[in-house]
Amino acid sequence: MLTCSPHSSTNVYIYVPQPLPFLDTRNKMAVFICFLFFLISSATACDRCVHQTKAAYFNKASALSSGACGYGSLALGFNSGQLAAGVASLYKDGAGCGACFQIRCKNTTLCTREGTTVILTDLNHNNQTDFVLSSRAFTAMAQKEMSQQILKLGIIDVEYKRVPCQYGNQNLAARVEESSQKPHYLAVKFLYQGGQTEIVGVDVAQVDSSNWGFMSRNHGAVWDTSRVPSGALQFRFVVTAGYDGKSVWAKHVLPADWKTGAIYDSGVQITDIAQEGCSPCDDGTW
Ligand SMILES: *[C@@H]1O[C@H](CO)[C@@H](O)[C@H](O)[C@H]1NC(C)=O
Ligand SMILES: *[C@@H]1O[C@H](CO)[C@@H](O)[C@H](O)[C@H]1NC(C)=O
Repeated sequence: MLTCSPHSSTNVYIYVPQPLPFLDTRNKMAVFICFLFFLISSATACDRCVHQTKAAYFNKASALSSGACGYGSLALGFNSGQLAAGVASLYKDGAGCGACFQIRCKNTTLCTREGTTVILTDLNHNNQTDFVLSSRAFTAMAQKEMSQQILKLGIIDVEYKRVPCQYGNQNLAARVEESSQKPHYLAVKFLYQGGQTEIVGVDVAQVDSSNWGFMSRNHGAVWDTSRVPSGALQFRFVVTAGYDGKSVWAKHVLPADWKTGAIYDSGVQITDIAQEGCSPCDDGTW
């Protein structure tokens, strides 16, 4: 089953249910239902367009690592600690976890024109600002010598747009959560997703088997199932990829003796940029 809710996106992803390899009838139906939801959810905003808002900051980056996405202390190592809590429309019920945004403050006396890139690791419950940033991300927007100044302001006018996440040679990885228990329960968190897409469905099967079972989003970046195949495991993902869904197949991810707390390389990376069915907007480079 594909986890897909009308709240999970403020964008119209034109999600054509064209035949995807590996999808059984049930999944095709789910893709079709997603398609309807995506069409129904109205285009209030486009991720890649520039949005105006204010940003505040947390004193401690660790405030963000205990966040809704479930990354835990791992988040502190992401993106040089330039982390962000985003409002519900960016968090997207967890599908927005790991999304990257370029953000700059609007006062050019204080801030550089490029701003900085942040990664979403938490949900911001305060709706006065779209983002609450780690202080490292907040000061990274500043001109030289201006860090203390913008910290003193505490809240500043910013603009931001979604950008692809870039991880160099790092593949998409799977971390087995501590709550996992062979053979009854498997919870996996996906890390280092490149590009500019969202994972909307995950299936798991034993390596070389076609007996796929679906996983559900537990919270944030964590997916789980209580029907755990034995042996080494493969995953396939459905990601938003613009005018159709894209299936990404990671043929061998967990070894047969997978361990909780361990991080496994998926052998694949996602670099696609989802096309959005929204009107043209300023998507020039900063
Ligand atoms: C930009 O920030 C400087 C320093 O805080 C301030 O003096 C100036 O008035 C600000 N400019 C605008 C347009 O807000
Ligand atoms: C923002 O949050 C406040 C307090 O939680 C709430 O009363 C208000 O309706 C919210 N505004 C919007 C636009 O969601």
